[in-house]
Amino acid sequence: MDSTPMDNPLQLKRIHHVEFWVGNAKQAAYYYHKAFGFDYFAYRGLETQNRELTSYVMRQNDIHLVLTTPMHPEHEINAHLVRHGDGVRDIAFEVDDVDFSWGEAVRRGAVPYQEPHWSEDSFGKVRRASIHTYGDTIHSFIGATVPGAAGSNGHSDYNGVFLPGYIEKHIPGAGCGLIRIDHMVGNVELGKMQFWADFYSNVMGFHRYITFDDKDISTEYSALMSIVMSSGNYVIKFPINEPAAGKKKSQIEEYLDFYHGPGVQHIALLTKDILETVDTLRKNGVEFLRVPETYYEDVPERVGTIQEPMDEVKRLNLLVDRDEDGYLLQLFSKPVEDRPTLFYEIIQRRGAKGFGKGNFKALFESIEREQALRGNL
Ligand code: FE2
Repeated sequence: MDSTPMDNPLQLKRIHHVEFWVGNAKQAAYYYHKAFGFDYFAYRGLETQNRELTSYVMRQNDIHLVLTTPMHPEHEINAHLVRHGDGVRDIAFEVDDVDFSWGEAVRRGAVPYQEPHWSEDSFGKVRRASIHTYGDTIHSFIGATVPGAAGSNGHSDYNGVFLPGYIEKHIPGAGCGLIRIDHMVGNVELGKMQFWADFYSNVMGFHRYITFDDKDISTEYSALMSIVMSSGNYVIKFPINEPAAGKKKSQIEEYLDFYHGPGVQHIALLTKDILETVDTLRKNGVEFLRVPETYYEDVPERVGTIQEPMDEVKRLNLLVDRDEDGYLLQLFSKPVEDRPTLFYEIIQRRGAKGFGKGNFKALFESIEREQALRGNL
């Protein structure tokens, strides 16, 4: 039962934050601060009487990344780190009524992870709960703050900096023009894409936005299939990939081998000026995939006129694609861990609502060159 586009049965408002479980949050935070220009925004750890966890909240406009590391060997995060390496644990949504959203999710078939409960400190209280999604990934529901409504109707009332237990840690980053999360992609096992697309449809009320099959996304060696699931208001888009048969190991299989199961493959961050964003990121040492010079030969014919100077687009090695609504510019980083797992996409939309289908072939050939260097093709 695919939902109709305007359904929002869980009343999701937006992505509140993305939490990573990492081996060394202090060093990860420094990377996001220096390489991506994120602000240090909030902190919890020994100085806030938390002897279990240390977390840094990094912010750039509407993007909030939480980097969490365990402080003793018994914590459940350790098993996650041993298995997956650094990776995304939680894609958290803001909702008005946590009890309603969580209850409805579970009624519609979600597996509960944490029941609704209060989290509080001297700045107020926030209601939260969570459910399981693919692999060891969860979705939390975080209560939107309603001043003066503490506890009544399950509403959160909080005027601290981020969430209870955190203190302000304000160190401005240099920024690089990133505005918000455009989409987040999950890699799942062969044969499981439909199952998880159904989960986002049946449980979350998302609708099928675009489907790519292995004819769209294939090279001589590998292929993948993808279904893009979108919330009714198009604010939250979660493509789900699974490997497809090819002559050699697909990039999705490489991810699944090294992450030891399904998980978040990439986070696409939206910018209003990709020329400036990517120029800054490159100067800061962020590594990107390269497409060959020949990629640009058919760009004018395939994409038509664009506002950005082509010599700059070429210099920054950006990818360009057009769909019926407009065009987009995008670029993909190399994995940001030693394991070939999570990477970032930088994307600017000039009307286009798609995901760069026209770039898949050039892109995959670039990914395969990297895979071959890692001995995994
Ligand atoms: Fe993407």
